[in-house]
Amino acid sequence: MESLVAFLIGYLSGSIPFGLLLARAAGKGDIRQIGSGNIGATNVLRTGSKKLAAATLLLDFLKGLVPVLVVAALLDRPLADAAPAWGPVPMAALGAVLGHCFPVWLGFRGGKGVATNAGVSFGLAWPIGVAYALVWIAVLALGRISSVAGMSAVVAAAVAAFVLQYYAFVPVLAVIAVLIVWLHRANIARLMRGEEPRVGKDK
Ligand code: G3P
Repeated sequence: MESLVAFLIGYLSGSIPFGLLLARAAGKGDIRQIGSGNIGATNVLRTGSKKLAAATLLLDFLKGLVPVLVVAALLDRPLADAAPAWGPVPMAALGAVLGHCFPVWLGFRGGKGVATNAGVSFGLAWPIGVAYALVWIAVLALGRISSVAGMSAVVAAAVAAFVLQYYAFVPVLAVIAVLIVWLHRANIARLMRGEEPRVGKDK
């Protein structure tokens, strides 16, 4: 029961489509009709507004971080030691990412979860979050391809959880990594055709 409530807290938070809402509020139209059609910060950047993209990135990050921290605080137990693999804290994390990727408000068609999973990773254990951020930033700086950086970071989080011995978080981060890579299948197809855009380009 605790895990179900935690999942719902995560899902409700994660399902707020900030990219869509911000782009619409700024008069940029429906972000789903622009660029890749994704509701995340990378695609919001394609509207031409760096501020809007940064705000989307921050809010999508926070909607992953906050529910994990709230559930952990409600439980009043040490995170890494007490959270069983599919207990309330990992379930809040899973809920947040699933909420972003499959929001009920948008007919379950949402984003790809990279920014939200960054927040989740920091919430679960900050060293995992640091590994996530470092890989994300380094790969983005090297290749300037957002999807490659995102996929590298989500896989890095699962590996980091294992290497840093946060074993309770390995299953959920591994499941999330598989999900997020799968959600990037159109990006992978574009990468293989050499057509995936670089950050700062039009499409
Ligand atoms: O976080 C999403 C990113 O990895 C890819 O976004 O719009 O290029 O499909 P996009």
